[in-house]
Amino acid sequence: MNYDILDQAVEFVRKAFPHAHPVCGLVLGSGWSDVAEAFEIKGILPYEKIAGLGATGVVGHAGRLVWGVSSGLETFVFQGRRHWYEGEGWTPIALPIFVLKQFGATSVVLTNAAGGIRKDLTPGDLMAIDDHINLMCANPLMGKHNTVWGPRFPDQSHVYNSDLRDMMDQASKACGVPVTHGVYLAGSGPSYETPAEIRAWQTLGADAVGMSTVPEALLASAASLRVGGISCITNYAAGISPAALSHEEVTDTTRKSMGNMKKFLIQLWKEMAHE
Ligand code: HPA
Repeated sequence: MNYDILDQAVEFVRKAFPHAHPVCGLVLGSGWSDVAEAFEIKGILPYEKIAGLGATGVVGHAGRLVWGVSSGLETFVFQGRRHWYEGEGWTPIALPIFVLKQFGATSVVLTNAAGGIRKDLTPGDLMAIDDHINLMCANPLMGKHNTVWGPRFPDQSHVYNSDLRDMMDQASKACGVPVTHGVYLAGSGPSYETPAEIRAWQTLGADAVGMSTVPEALLASAASLRVGGISCITNYAAGISPAALSHEEVTDTTRKSMGNMKKFLIQLWKEMAHE
């Protein structure tokens, strides 16, 4: 991780948004970008202007930092995320979390698209992440230690904050959008999984599978941010249905589910504002 670049990014955002005091962050993954429209917008920065972030190369990721407000909560909305499989190291992936921490935010909600492994999960479902399994075979905390991430060997017993998970349930009830809970497993991607891998990961306890979120969740919890995670199940994982997997299916499902995704997150922000 390149801390000079991360510090430069923080300075750049500070200059661009001198009056920003975000209390929380929202990272919008594949197909979630349009949720940013639900925020009252105070400023926008394209990722390519932010040192170390750069444009996202993935369809369905807008690539903008939106400084917005919802239910009175000032929020940095990262509209699109960078991935480990893009091959540019951990700096672009860690950057949103690093910026949030330096700006004094205390919570972050991470969103993603995921393949459903558990039998009852169907495309369009929302799943609150209770815990994760890191099968990326990599860890963003490897390398020289920086105390922004807390102790050298951070505890990972409670990565996903229980208050935020409860608030997700309250939000689900209040807005009528069903939300289930489960364990998210991240592989490195960018290839989708084989049916044999999915069968193996099912036995490991994974409910849904994707290629993101785990690094940010790990870093944010190490940095003592409250972490919430929410997956939109966009497809049946490999071998669960005979259909081939494609990114078009992923973005197609999120497009169809956008109403629910927006409704749920806006209600979640209401719940967070009332704590
Ligand atoms: N596998 C990995 N990543 C994904 C999937 C999947 O089935 N769906 C959306 N992102």
